[in-house]
Formats: sequence, C-alpha cells, structure tokens
Amino acid sequence: MSTALIILAAGKGTRMNSDLPKVLHPIAQAPMLEHAMAAGQALAPERTIVVAGHGADLVRSAVAEIDEVAQVVLQEEQLGTGHAVQQARAALEGFDGDAVVLYGDTPFVSAETIERMVEARSRADLVILGFEAADPARYGRLVMDGDSLEKIVEFKDASDEERAITFCNSGLMACNAAQMFALLDKVSNQNAAGEYYLTDLVEIARDADLTVTAVSCDEAETLGINSRADLAQADAVFQAKARAELMDLGVTLMAPETVYLSLGTYVGRDTVIEPNVVFGPGVTVESGALIRAFSHLEGCHVSRGAKVGPYARLRPGAELAEDTHVGNFVEIKNAEIAEGAKVNHLSYIGDASVGKKTNIGAGTITCNYDGFMKHRTEIGAGAFIGSNTMLVAPVKIGNEAMTATGAVVTKDVGDGDLAIARAAQTNKAGRARKLMDMLRAKKARLTSKS
Ligand code: UD1
Ligand code: MG
Repeated sequence: MSTALIILAAGKGTRMNSDLPKVLHPIAQAPMLEHAMAAGQALAPERTIVVAGHGADLVRSAVAEIDEVAQVVLQEEQLGTGHAVQQARAALEGFDGDAVVLYGDTPFVSAETIERMVEARSRADLVILGFEAADPARYGRLVMDGDSLEKIVEFKDASDEERAITFCNSGLMACNAAQMFALLDKVSNQNAAGEYYLTDLVEIARDADLTVTAVSCDEAETLGINSRADLAQADAVFQAKARAELMDLGVTLMAPETVYLSLGTYVGRDTVIEPNVVFGPGVTVESGALIRAFSHLEGCHVSRGAKVGPYARLRPGAELAEDTHVGNFVEIKNAEIAEGAKVNHLSYIGDASVGKKTNIGAGTITCNYDGFMKHRTEIGAGAFIGSNTMLVAPVKIGNEAMTATGAVVTKDVGDGDLAIARAAQTNKAGRARKLMDMLRAKKARLTSKS
C-alpha cells in the first residue's frame, strides 16, 4: 500500500513570539518540522505534502533542503485543521493509497507509532492516534465505544462529562486519501471556534457507515511545541533519548548530561566522549575515536582511532582520517587531514589538505582568505611545518618538506625542501647590558625628581 504524508505547518505559533515560523524553530539543531518529516520517512511515502501558511516562503526553502521531492502547498488563511488538509487535495491528485496526517509542531511521534497507525488501517477505514493524558487540558477528547471511536469532541465544545475523559486526540490520522477528501467536503465550521475541524471526520465517517478506531501511543510522543519553554523541554527530551541510544550502541559518554547532540549525529562503537562536547549538525564519528572535553564539532567526519581535543573546533568539511590527532585550540575547516597526521596545538587549518603523517607545528595558520576570496593550501605527506608558520594561500608544500619556525610562506616548497622565510638573526655582543644600564639610570633620575 502506498502512502502519502500530509504535514500541517500553517499555524502562527503566537506564543513563540518570533519572526520565525514555529515549525522552523530547531530542536537538536534541526527544524522541528524535520523531526516530523524524518519519522514519516519510515513509511517510504510516495508523496510528502507540507501545508504552510505563516512564513510560507521560509518554510518552502527549509523543506527544499530537508527533502527535495516534498511539496509545499499554501493555506492562505488558517481556517482550521480540516481546511488545512483540504489544501493538499490538488497535490494528491491521482494518488491512490493512504494519507497520513502529521503535525509539524509535534516532532516526537515515533516511526513505529506511525507504522502502527497504517497497520490499523486493515481494521478500520479511519485511524486516529490517541494518548492517555496526565493532564488532558484543552486537547480534543476521544469518545470510545469499545474498540471503535465514536467521535472527537474539542475541549471548547465538550460537556463536563466529556471533559472528564482522559483519552485524548494527538491530531494524527490515517485514511485512504480519496476517502479523506470526500469526507472533508462535508465538514462545516459550525462550532465554538468557527473552524473547519479535521476531527469532525470521525462522526462523518461513522454516518457513512465507515469504521473508525484509535491507536494509542505514549504521551511523550505527542508533545506539542507552543512556546520557547516547550522548545527547551523538547530539546532536553531529545538529548536524553539520543544520549541513551548512543550508549546502547556502545559509545562511552563520561558525563552524558553535558554532551549536546543533533538530529542525525552518528558515533561509532567504542568511541569515548569526554564531558562538555557539542555535536552540531552533520557529524559522523567512526569507532574507537576519542573526543576530548570542550570540543565543538559540526559538519565533519572523524575516522577510527582519531583523537580530538580537548578544546578543538571542527567546522564543516573537516575530514579527519584514521589515527589523526587534533589537539587543543585547533580549528579545522573544509580540510582533509590524512592518516596519522597531527595538528596538536593552537592552529587554524582551513581550505587545505594535509598529507599522511605530516606534523603541523603549534601556531600554524593557513592564511586562506584575502578579504575577497578563499584559497587552498596543500601540504604533502611526511612534511614538518615549523611552529608559527603562516601559509599564505594559495600555496603548496611538498612531501617530506619542512618550513622553519616562524616562516611566512608565500611560495611553493618542493618535495624534500626546507623553506626559511623570516628575518635573519643578528646578535650584538654586550648590547643588552648597556641598554639596561641606560634605562635603569633614566628611571632613577625620573623617580628622584618627583
Ligand atoms: C488539535 C485538535 C485536537 C487535538 C490537538 C492536539 C482539531 C480541531 N483539534 O487542536 O483535537 O487534541 O490538536 O494537539 O484538529 N494548522 C494548520 N492550519 C490551520 C489550523 C491548524 O496548518 O488552519 C496546524 C497547526 O500549525 C498545528 C496543527 O495544525 O500544527 C494543529 O493546530 P492547532 O491549532 O494547534 O490545533 P489544536 O487547537 O491544538
Ligand atoms: Mg495545538
């Protein structure tokens, strides 16, 4: 059975108090919408439709980055969840299969739960995802009759008796797409909110002699984000879960609560992560690596057996091969560090390649930017870059070449050559002592006057 995802993301999110559309606020460095879309990928959907409204242009460009084939449709006025789903009708023209409705601001619904909803379609025409709420607050209530769902009553429209129900509507549903749109045609806005409620489909389906059931999930999965406080809580929930998953995969986290992970952070088995490490988006670390305290990584790859930090910064495009060492106060950007190479202290390596077993001395800087353009530095294998070398790019250093300490290298250095590029040293015999005597006498004159 083919499936299509319809992700509702048009709401304003007033309580976020933000210029950014709510669904683009990040949890674990990825828009909350991306979390919802990622969970839906478990169904290998044939089509993905995101319904956007507030900040639609921003949503459109974010979606394009997350999933090239997802479509964004516009809901110009937010007239309710039922109206929102109707906006996907044209985009699903000719689609034959089930539609699963997700919310862009409910990021933690698991892939497994979404799969259970689709499975339940073999038992019922319309499947709603519900949960037992510790505090049912203003959620829609699910009125059950045995296994079948009679209706969903919105809090605003509910009687006291209905408000006492604790089985609540998550908002997610699954139904044959064509059937869903046919039922939606019958939804009106005659209710307390004056909105077209998606939830009305339940009663409309029953009136048409269709079967309706509810699948239940843990309340934690239905956590919706409405405020910055919810956002922070959601991030904390994500972190706790992601850390636990890493440890299950055989990664040591010395102080798990201090390690920050992103959606999609991958770390291999037997890697050790010291306290206070931040993993930004797009980081992969192979097995048996050591990521030492206070390191910050994003958009980079660390191979087996590499040692990073303490206090290292790996920026996008940093590629560390096996058994490399990147030490304290070293920044690496868009650069490949080949097997066994070392950059141990106080360096900036950007737009560069460093060959196998090369040693980069303390304080080395690739001067990659001239104020207008970026240029590359290529360093061969087995080379030795002396401390405090400035490599003024574009420049190439050959295999087994050396640069003298303090060199400002502006010309290529051939294989096996040594570059010395600094003022020659001259020693003046006895001059220091003379200078000191002179200064001492001067100070004495000045202090005796005052
Ligand atoms: C909805 C449900 C309620 C359920 C709750 C769970 C309805 C009528 N009610 O209520 O039963 O318990 O979610 O959180 O469906 N949206 C649009 N366009 C619109 C309106 C909403 O895209 O015109 C989107 C919102 O951005 C949001 C989602 O749909 O992602 C839910 O909308 P929201 O206004 O939060 O619905 P609730 O009143 O919370
Ligand atoms: Mg809501």
